[in-house]
Amino acid sequence: MKIIDTIEQLQTLQDKFKKLNIGFVPTMGALHEGHISLIKQARANNDIVVVSIFVNPTQFLAGEDLDAYPKKMEADSKICELCDVDYLFAPEISTIYSSDEVLIKAPNVRGFTLEGVKRPGHFDGMLQIVLKLLNLVQPTNAYFGKKDAQQLSLIKLMVDNFFLNVNVIECEIIREVDGLAMSSRNIYLSAQERQDALSISRSLKFAAKKIGAGEFNSDILISSMKKIMAEIHIEYVAITNRKFEKQDTVVIGDTMILIAAQVGTTRLIDNIWI
Ligand code: PAJ
Repeated sequence: MKIIDTIEQLQTLQDKFKKLNIGFVPTMGALHEGHISLIKQARANNDIVVVSIFVNPTQFLAGEDLDAYPKKMEADSKICELCDVDYLFAPEISTIYSSDEVLIKAPNVRGFTLEGVKRPGHFDGMLQIVLKLLNLVQPTNAYFGKKDAQQLSLIKLMVDNFFLNVNVIECEIIREVDGLAMSSRNIYLSAQERQDALSISRSLKFAAKKIGAGEFNSDILISSMKKIMAEIHIEYVAITNRKFEKQDTVVIGDTMILIAAQVGTTRLIDNIWI
């Protein structure tokens, strides 16, 4: 595995592998099984695998955890090596950003609900970095997790809107054995908070079971989910269609249940697709 940090090195790579499939997994590092599952899919379906690690400052709001975001370059590069990654792209901020940039704006409707409301500007910065990375790496296939459902949806929309030549591959959410969705931010949780955080996945599982038993009313489902999460600070529990429009009634095949909650000072998100 080669660790690279310049745009020139990436371009050499593209010349070298013109006829080969490139699978790309963009990350912010502190790699866990969720990231690894994306990397494994990239490895299984491409000739060359590129992983990026870049804690993107433009997608963090003032007061968020940019400075505290876990950095584990040594462990991460070991993980990538063990996953048979060909190139780990870990650029400096100055390689990626200049002082006066053309900006990308999240779309007015899908970008301004749920996470878009709770974290205004987050999606602008996320789309900006993903566009840059896709242009730099020029992958055949790019892998993103359903864990960040809105992020995934907006990336797909950007790829369509800007006619980007890449297949966006949607990857399933990977969970701990007890149900907690894997996240780089889970390490912030104390033992008690980690226990409390389990109510998030428990409430999603409960809702799925209720739906299986014929309860399709969103209000009823949401209010029982809220009871399960009584110990944590819920930011939102939403039942929407795949375009993130509120749904009063669950539609099998076109429903998502999405949660954002603060557990202690840690903000967690999770969802299921019905
Ligand atoms: P990061 O949080 O590091 O996540 C990188 C990728 O891993 C994303 O596509 C995310 O959805 C996926 N992922 C995270 N946890 C997962 C889990 N438990 N199961 C499956 N996939 C999971 O998301 C970002 O970084 C950034 O916003 C990025 C796209 C890299 C742009 O900066």
